[in-house]
Order: sequence, then C-alpha cells, then structure tokens
Amino acid sequence: MIALGADHGGFGIKEAIRNYFEENKIEYIDLGIYTEESVDYPIFAKKVCEKILDGTARLGILCCGTGIGMSMAANKIRGIRAAALSDSFSCEFTRRHNDANVLCLGGRVISEEKAVELAKIFITTPFEGGRHINRIAMFE
Ligand code: RB5
Repeated sequence: MIALGADHGGFGIKEAIRNYFEENKIEYIDLGIYTEESVDYPIFAKKVCEKILDGTARLGILCCGTGIGMSMAANKIRGIRAAALSDSFSCEFTRRHNDANVLCLGGRVISEEKAVELAKIFITTPFEGGRHINRIAMFE
C-alpha cells in the first residue's frame, strides 16, 4: 500500500501518480487534497506519515510546489525518512541506501511524466541493508 498526499502545488502530479496506480492496479490510499484549493502542506504530510507509522502503508509520496516543505514537515516525525528530489539516480539510491519511506516531489519543479517515473522507481527499488542499517540507526 502506498499513501499519497498533496497540497495545491502538488495536486497535478499527485493526480498523475494516482492515475498510474489506478491503471496498473497498484494499491494506494489518497489522503488528499482532492481539488486545487489552497491548503497547508504540513497537514497532508502528517496524514501520510501516520499511515506509514501505523503500518497501513509501506511507503508514502507527498507532493507540494517544490517537494521541500513536505519533506521538512515529514522529517520532523520520528521514524520518517523523507527525500525531496527530482532525478532518478537520487530516487533509486535514497531507497537503496537511506531506506527512505517517503518520496517528496515538486509540482512546480518536475513534469507529470517525471513524477510518475520517479514514483515507479521509488516503489520498486529495495533497501540494500548491510552497512546502511547502522548508518540509519545513527541518525534515528
Ligand atoms: C504553496 O504555495 C507552496 O509553498 C508549497 O506547495 C510548497 O512548495 C512548500 O514547500
């Protein structure tokens, strides 16, 4: 299960990812927003992170204008490792090395196509474990 959340700045790319999940029968929960009305991104960051921490979702994807505000809000929550990024290499390696559990994307930074590409990488790339486990434990 993947938890999705967005504010107005990320609504378009969240919808593109949601449509991809629908078409490919990937299980998700969409925690909003559901329109382009102006909202406060920390509320949606919290909703998505709570679904990861209570075990409902394996991973989360948060979309705002830049991805940065969502990542700042999400990373305040213990147990959340959120990565704001816009390239496929960082996306792959934040799963492999950081075991990131939340991907943060910017609707004013990347295209809908790029957002879907990054979402696919994020949800299919495994954590490598090994030497990275201790490094994560050091900051957790
Ligand atoms: C909203 O205008 C914008 O500030 C928000 O989407 C996000 O980019 C914050 O980091």
